[in-house]
Amino acid sequence: MSIKSALRKNKTNILELKKMKKDGVPVTWITAYDYPLAYVAEQIGMDMILVGDSGGMVQLGYQTTHPVTMDEMIVLAKAARRGAPNTFIIGDMPQGAYEPSERDAVMNALRFIKEAGCDAVKCEGGRRMASKIKAIADAGILVMGHLGLTPQSASSFGGYRVQGKTKQSFDETFEDAVALQEAGVFGILLEAMPSEPAGQIAKQLEVPILGIGAGDQVDGQLVIMHDVLGLYQPFRPWFAKCYIAEVAKQFSDYLINLEDHRKTGREERKDGLLVLAQMAIGKYVEEVKDKSFPGETYSYPIKADELKHIKESKYWK
Ligand code: KIV
Repeated sequence: MSIKSALRKNKTNILELKKMKKDGVPVTWITAYDYPLAYVAEQIGMDMILVGDSGGMVQLGYQTTHPVTMDEMIVLAKAARRGAPNTFIIGDMPQGAYEPSERDAVMNALRFIKEAGCDAVKCEGGRRMASKIKAIADAGILVMGHLGLTPQSASSFGGYRVQGKTKQSFDETFEDAVALQEAGVFGILLEAMPSEPAGQIAKQLEVPILGIGAGDQVDGQLVIMHDVLGLYQPFRPWFAKCYIAEVAKQFSDYLINLEDHRKTGREERKDGLLVLAQMAIGKYVEEVKDKSFPGETYSYPIKADELKHIKESKYWK
């Protein structure tokens, strides 16, 4: 993608997402939690932005996503909205914002919509959260589900582990996905699953199935901004790709050829990290659209005997 902005003409909507699924056009999705990087995502023409509760870690420095509060998420989401006024933004419901009751779920989802200007919200959990998710959908708020590795409840399945690798795990994820679709979600994010089981779910569900670390057979990809740009030091999942090395030469050539535009001192100066970020994020978009990312390199492998066993599931078609 060229450094020139590739602005979308219209904000993504759920009809377009459905059409993209039908036509096999992958959805591009990235997290952003602040004004400058949301701005870059919009300049690139990203299909969707997630203000993830991962922002609690990568942006605010907590060790897990547990401490981040609804008030903090609203600050992050407002900043992202200011940077990307014309992009479909999803606010991620933090732990504690939706589990206690249907009323909590609706009230906090409304905060993302009314205070931060988000277009939709996301909640983790399948059947056990379906009534809260249905309450949000029934209130007329677009809600996305999140299955597979769900960080807020990771300790209940023994930590940060790949999901969907056994028949039981596949069956449970499949049943959860169907329950979420019935509850009224407009899409489901699958996190950390091998391509084939994730692809089965994408094939059989009507709503778009997005993936993060869920291989290349789903309907679109989500990445964490701080992984793409190498901005977060403590941890990077191995399915995450940092694009900086691939665009470093392009960036240095660009700088060498850059004219000095200083005249009044107030011109836009495209000579810094935002340009590098734009190149890296642009490359991510390009690779998702031409289906070269995630490929095998950034997908979880599954052994032939494990896959054979999963294929015996009554849900496998
Ligand atoms: O908070 C987030 O960014 C997420 C991803 C880790 C899937 O929910």
